[in-house]
Amino acid sequence: MEFVTYEVKGQVGIVTINRPKALNALNSQVLDELNEAFDAVDINEVRCLILTGAGEKSFVAGADIGEMSTLSKAEGEAFGKKGNDLFLKIESFPIPVIAAVNGFALGGGCEISLACDFRIASENSIFGQPEVGLGITPGFGGTQRLARAVGTGMAKQMIYGARNIKSDEALRIGLVNQVVALEELMPTVEKIAAGIAKNAPIAVRNCKKAINEGMQVDIEKAVEIEEKLFGDCFETADQRYGMEFFLDKNKEKVKEPFKNC
Ligand code: CAA
Repeated sequence: MEFVTYEVKGQVGIVTINRPKALNALNSQVLDELNEAFDAVDINEVRCLILTGAGEKSFVAGADIGEMSTLSKAEGEAFGKKGNDLFLKIESFPIPVIAAVNGFALGGGCEISLACDFRIASENSIFGQPEVGLGITPGFGGTQRLARAVGTGMAKQMIYGARNIKSDEALRIGLVNQVVALEELMPTVEKIAAGIAKNAPIAVRNCKKAINEGMQVDIEKAVEIEEKLFGDCFETADQRYGMEFFLDKNKEKVKEPFKNC
């Protein structure tokens, strides 16, 4: 692949968008390669993913404006669908995906971070949906996920005004969970990811599914989804071991890693 790299560290996979000359902007090729990279992740080997951008300046500076500049209405809609299909895949990916936002997260960059489970940002990060300044709407889920993440009023103000915000404001409005110095970003996110990866894999996956699916339906249906996914954890080796370990009064015993089952 030309624009996407993938490496595995322990049980954590790192997907890097690597097109720094264009500030990691998302053209069709990058979208295709990201699709391929996610398809190739072995979720029996890897328990948490990190998505980041190459370089020290930009996470993703948006969809590729050059590529979009000559699109027809039908081609524009198809391009939106291409991004949306990929971002839905990331959002519903069976294992958690953390966005390590290392600079500009504009337009499609803000949107791809919103498709991740949560965002940790470097101090130099800038978030925004500048699309209306280009004569378009956000097209890779921004009108939907930004509103769900920070509330409709804040999302509307950012989107209508094409207003970029710095990392401290992103933290204040709950768009990111934590802001750290740029050099601390990957060590911090890798530590968070490793902390997730050491927990029972089926339970972590079911938590993601329960939260994502439950947020789309009313509370009665949402708790039913939870009940099924809760029940699904029982009789697994991890549930048996996790509970037996807790109940064992031998305090000298060391907890073994959870098995992937
Ligand atoms: N698409 C294509 N190329 C881009 C790009 C983008 N979104 N963002 C940056 N680049 C390219 C620039 O054209 C430039 O290329 P050249 O060196 O070949 O000229 C290179 O990246 C470096 O960019 P700048 O020289 O502009 O760097 P800067 O530091 O002066 O500015 C910036 C950085 C403020 C992020 C500026 O590049 C910028 O405003 N980029 C566009 C941001 C934007 O509007 N994003 C939204 C796109 S629309 C969208 O995403 C739609 C959707 O929802 C699907």
